[in-house]
Amino acid sequence: MKLLVTGGCGFIGSAFVRLALARGAAVVNLDKLTYAGNPENVADVADHPGYTFVHADIADADAVADAIRGADAVVNFAAESHVDRSILSPADFITTDVVGTAVLLDAARRADVGRFVQVSTDEVYGSIRSGAFHETDPLAPSSPYSASKAGGDLQVLAWHRTFGLDAVITRGSNTFGPRQYPEKLIPLFVTNALDGLELPVYGDGMQVRDWIFVDDHCEGIWAVLDQGVAGEVYNVGGGNEEANLGITRRILELTGRDASLVRHVADRPGHDRRYALDTARLRGLGWEPRHSFEEALAATVAWYRDNRAWWEPIKSGEYRRYYEEQYGTR
Ligand code: NAD
Ligand code: TYD
Repeated sequence: MKLLVTGGCGFIGSAFVRLALARGAAVVNLDKLTYAGNPENVADVADHPGYTFVHADIADADAVADAIRGADAVVNFAAESHVDRSILSPADFITTDVVGTAVLLDAARRADVGRFVQVSTDEVYGSIRSGAFHETDPLAPSSPYSASKAGGDLQVLAWHRTFGLDAVITRGSNTFGPRQYPEKLIPLFVTNALDGLELPVYGDGMQVRDWIFVDDHCEGIWAVLDQGVAGEVYNVGGGNEEANLGITRRILELTGRDASLVRHVADRPGHDRRYALDTARLRGLGWEPRHSFEEALAATVAWYRDNRAWWEPIKSGEYRRYYEEQYGTR
């Protein structure tokens, strides 16, 4: 099987590229290399005979038409993915997550690709007080990020309905693991804690997320690629609900730091209080998460401790300007 994977130099995409190659697929990885795209993330497979890299934008119809030739399936990870950046500057989110997705869909239809997998997020459902979201629940996104991902999802479903494209959607929960850009909660707090820097907790820190280890998320996407029913959506959740302050406490413990590093800062505008997913549909395909939250978090902290060469250049580059803008006035 030949796959066109987009965004394969990012956090989850790079883990998926590794998984797909290990399972015998050939992979064309098309990535724009935004601030979040890092060729280091796929350095270990760069010389694999089944691997090809294409430096391009998913919104570039000509480049996509070239790259998609001969692909049996597309797995679309490419996105602007950070809520706080979408609040500072929403435009790129619309261009990539909505327009880019539509360009890819069109190319997939023209190339008669057998399957299109849209990698989406639980954030499209919005916040939930109790219980868990099902795939049939309405979309109620809160941030420019989640609204643009919801726009992408709706394009995917429309292409299935109107053009008969074989398309499926995965909606993953908050993911963590090695190689996650240190703007997201876990890698930001781990790398700050390792350096003895403050951990900026938004508001009261009692917002709840459902955490999933990156390899479990990728195996869920693979199961949907392999066995999902065309036109269906599949939630991919780890079942590990925890408040941000709980995550913070765990990170302090794993890095040998104490609570003096915690700083409560102004809350995120439009901040969703809780995410939770019902995953029965995906479990019906035989998938279940294989990693315990405690062990995977400890392994993730160890990875950041052992791989300063990966994150130190990031934190001293473009990131510094972002960090100043994001946290400077809080
Ligand atoms: P990431 O920000 O780490 O990586 C995104 C990748 O996409 C980068 O390599 C970047 O260069 C590339 N990219 C961005 N715009 C592009 C464009 N226009 N054309 C081509 N490539 C482009 O993101 P991630 O955390 O790995 O997330 C991957 C996908 O999974 C996203 O679609 C995201 O919405 C979804 N998702 C993420 C999480 C999470 O917790 N990180 C949870 C659920 C779903
Ligand atoms: P994040 O990793 O940005 O994922 P998302 O917003 O997509 O769920 O944030 C996870 C949670 O952590 C969210 O409730 C916001 C909170 N958070 C902080 O309290 N401080 C921070 O510096 C960051 C980045 C996030």
